[in-house]
Amino acid sequence: MILQEEMTILSNVKIAPRVFRMVLQGEMVLDMNVPDQFLHIRVPSPDKVLRRPISISEYDRKTKTCVIIYRVEGPGLADVSQMIPGQKLDVMGPLGNGFNLNMPFPKQKALIIGGGIGTPPLVQLARDLVAMGIAVTVLLGFAQKPAVILESEFSAVASELKIVTDDGSYGRDGNVGVLMDEIDVLDFDAVYACGATGMLRAVASRTENHPNAFISMEARMACGMGACYACVVHVAGDETGQQALKVCDQGPIFRTSEVVI
Ligand code: FES
Repeated sequence: MILQEEMTILSNVKIAPRVFRMVLQGEMVLDMNVPDQFLHIRVPSPDKVLRRPISISEYDRKTKTCVIIYRVEGPGLADVSQMIPGQKLDVMGPLGNGFNLNMPFPKQKALIIGGGIGTPPLVQLARDLVAMGIAVTVLLGFAQKPAVILESEFSAVASELKIVTDDGSYGRDGNVGVLMDEIDVLDFDAVYACGATGMLRAVASRTENHPNAFISMEARMACGMGACYACVVHVAGDETGQQALKVCDQGPIFRTSEVVI
């Protein structure tokens, strides 16, 4: 069910350069039960009519709270970053399909790969998998040390956590492709990835033969509900170029083999 609600801001804290962690409380949380759905938030400026899609990083139905982590890329989210506890945020959600956990896990192992601001929705995913008794290996890539986020959240649940930075200022030097080349992806029942396009391509090229490899796609959105086709991605293998899938309601999660990245 899609709801619209004035959720209450409990906190809104900067956790890295231009990156903020906001805790929201409201009835909508009761409808959150799949990792990597998103909220479509209205920025508090009358001249900005389009909502902004932000992934849900964590949720707790008992306290009716959820966490979103967002990077300020322009004036809209800059305005959101100035909001304070007690204020209300106009939110639609939860939207999107979320990561699929309904599959056999005979090896009881999953691989999670995140890059930069794509890492937040993977926190809930990792927790849900661990709660199912599945061991998670987490590979994270960031541009540089100040951009590293959520290390403690992942290390609290991951069987193994490896971090790389592009400039080598924290963890290993390089990108997550380097880490993937050191493991056998077929050793994991499922592979889940969220990050920039280049990272998703690196994941897709290394999981071609994997039956359960999933990526979270990003797209510019307008309605967020499947009505306007602003967010389409093309279907892999479609030579006509006419077949498309909507990221907002048929995604954001797709199999790596399903879409053109
Ligand atoms: Fe309108 Fe996806 S944003 S269809």
